[in-house]
Amino acid sequence: MKPNRSSLTNCCILTIFIFALTSTTLVTVTRAFTTSSILSSASSRTLSSSSSSTSSSLDAVTGVTRNPNFSKLAGGYLFPEIARRRNAYIEAHPDMASRIISLGIGDTTQPIPSHILSGLEQGATKLGTKDGYTGYGAEQGQTLLRQRIASVLYQDRIEPDEVFVSDGAKCDISRLQQVFGSQVITAVQDPSYPVYVDTAVMMGQTGTQDSTTKQYQNIVYMPCTADNQFFPDYASLPRADIVYFCSPNNPTGAAATKEQLTSLVQLCKERGSILVFDAAYAPFIRNPNVPKSIYEIDGAKEVAIEVNSFSKYAGFTGVRLGWTVVPHALKYSDGTPVRNDFNRVMTTAFNGASNIVQSGGLACLDPEGMKEIDTLINYYLENAKLLRETFASIQGYKVFGGTDAPYVFVQLPQGMKSWDAFTHILEKAQVVTIPGAGFGPGGEGYLRLSAFAPRDKIIEACARLKVAL
Ligand code: MLT
Repeated sequence: MKPNRSSLTNCCILTIFIFALTSTTLVTVTRAFTTSSILSSASSRTLSSSSSSTSSSLDAVTGVTRNPNFSKLAGGYLFPEIARRRNAYIEAHPDMASRIISLGIGDTTQPIPSHILSGLEQGATKLGTKDGYTGYGAEQGQTLLRQRIASVLYQDRIEPDEVFVSDGAKCDISRLQQVFGSQVITAVQDPSYPVYVDTAVMMGQTGTQDSTTKQYQNIVYMPCTADNQFFPDYASLPRADIVYFCSPNNPTGAAATKEQLTSLVQLCKERGSILVFDAAYAPFIRNPNVPKSIYEIDGAKEVAIEVNSFSKYAGFTGVRLGWTVVPHALKYSDGTPVRNDFNRVMTTAFNGASNIVQSGGLACLDPEGMKEIDTLINYYLENAKLLRETFASIQGYKVFGGTDAPYVFVQLPQGMKSWDAFTHILEKAQVVTIPGAGFGPGGEGYLRLSAFAPRDKIIEACARLKVAL
């Protein structure tokens, strides 16, 4: 029997209605399940994306296709995921809220010292005067600040016009990906600061993530674990166009020596790779044999870009000020200076760092400002020492980093998974840490603790860790 047209229409409407109802129910059930099992599923390394929409195509108004690179991302960004799990714990245990101590994200906690603060104040005051007022740009930063960065922080090893002042190293890493485009092969230390990999995925440089290895196709993962003193053996791995290297390292806290960096620069030259050197933690270096900049290595200007930031120098995590050095001598295979293209991105997609904040940056580089920075960094290094001592005293745990870096990297007892350790410490000690696996598959079996916290919180956290572990 052939159905008539109107019964067919009614049937379709009913089907769509039932389908919509089922999907909504499914989404609701899934959400409820996710919330209730948030901490019990902690051993999973896959981060669920808290910010991604679960709406179906049924309610889409646009006909725009989603950028396929975003569906390759295995989950949300690491630090919001940590915050989500902490908040879920607090929601389930409101009486514990005031006990939470965060040694998770590396966010500065100490107030901005007075001389540096006066620079910020002066920057704001000038804007209220006829002579001092300034508007846009320059997009590359104020000439004086670029000169002071080159002379104070690089002892004139680089030229001021090789310095691009920005709103931070993280943003500059993303801008560099725009410069490199989708066709390059990227290498990262494993574990590493998640921004390198996530922005490479967004840019379309990679395939999808292998669910077993947790590695993205087309990324060269350079293992950095206790077995190789956290320094990669790049020579034994496939060549990459772009090699990201962070020293002092986030998350491992390892600081590469002059010899190690010399060999890395040499290798990049031999293999024709561009080295992106992340020096955001340079002020923590106390070992005289650890370079604070890649340009302390002969010949580095031909292969290396350096990204850096005032965030950890001066407590500018919320103020926002960083810089990137792209030397004239660094060229693509066709002879085009990389600097030209970075300059093109900066002038097109950035309007220059805040003039108020750049005035704060200038104050950082005065002798008084540099002294204040040193005092701040020593404070955090003392915190790191207390964390190191704590883990050294707990049987089964091995501690690394924390001497030239604000991060302490702890090797967990054999077989313990890092998300399980994260959950255990949150539940038993109310201390927030970061699981090593959040920084890449090579971080499995480790935990990162940040020394950015007030001293009394560090002392309290250490006491609780000794009881809980
Ligand atoms: C970290 O915790 O790894 C850093 O604070 C994050 C950042 O600098 O963006």
